[in-house]
Amino acid sequence: MKFYNLKDIFENKNFINQLLKILTENFPEWIKNENDAMTELEKSLSDEKISIILEDKNTVIGWISGINSYSGAFELHPIVISKKFQGKGYGKILISYFEKKVKELGYCTIYLGCDDEDYRTNISGKEIFPDPIDYLINIKNINNHPYEFYIKCGFSLCGIIPHANGFGKPDILMAKKI
Ligand SMILES: CC(C)(COP(=O)(O)OP(=O)(O)OC[C@H]1O[C@@H](n2cnc3c(N)ncnc32)[C@H](O)[C@@H]1OP(=O)(O)O)[C@@H](O)C(=O)NCCC(=O)NCCS
Repeated sequence: MKFYNLKDIFENKNFINQLLKILTENFPEWIKNENDAMTELEKSLSDEKISIILEDKNTVIGWISGINSYSGAFELHPIVISKKFQGKGYGKILISYFEKKVKELGYCTIYLGCDDEDYRTNISGKEIFPDPIDYLINIKNINNHPYEFYIKCGFSLCGIIPHANGFGKPDILMAKKI
């Protein structure tokens, strides 16, 4: 198993084609086709970003990227594991490698937003004003929403943007001290 900076393997068509498929399969709402996926990969090559793939025996397992949006906090966006490798611990491995890289750059915090656009938690599909934090404190996972994955990786729930993606579709904010 190896980690690569995406920049260093960008000419490897085999790896890039696998990654394009992984992105379109896992994010159908956001990434409609392989052109969209390529645009995201290209954007991740800029200097203010980290972009890492995990590979084993010529098979791409996953990708993680992020950007230095604050002086002390680094945003994680996105992480994805190939469907056939999900649930085998690779997501946790990729997060911990990313944490190491972000820490080496001198940041204190990693944060992220994980949308609930398709009613996978009990805080979507409804009005959560005027007390969104009360809802957040009592969040329950109904259908495999990834916020629980991040909790297993040591992240804390730290905020919510009600109706971020339309009525009843919040963005759930999470952060971890590194
Ligand atoms: C979310 C994702 C990155 C997790 O990676 P993974 O390799 O499947 O997760 P892991 O096997 O490392 O899981 C680590 C732990 O989190 C738990 N977990 C993983 N995904 C979960 C989910 N969707 N809901 C609840 N728990 C989850 C696992 O059960 C495991 O628990 P354990 O440590 O008690 O055994 C992966 O499923 C994925 O790529 N999903 C599609 C894209 C996506 O949703 N990205 C995140 C956008 S915010």
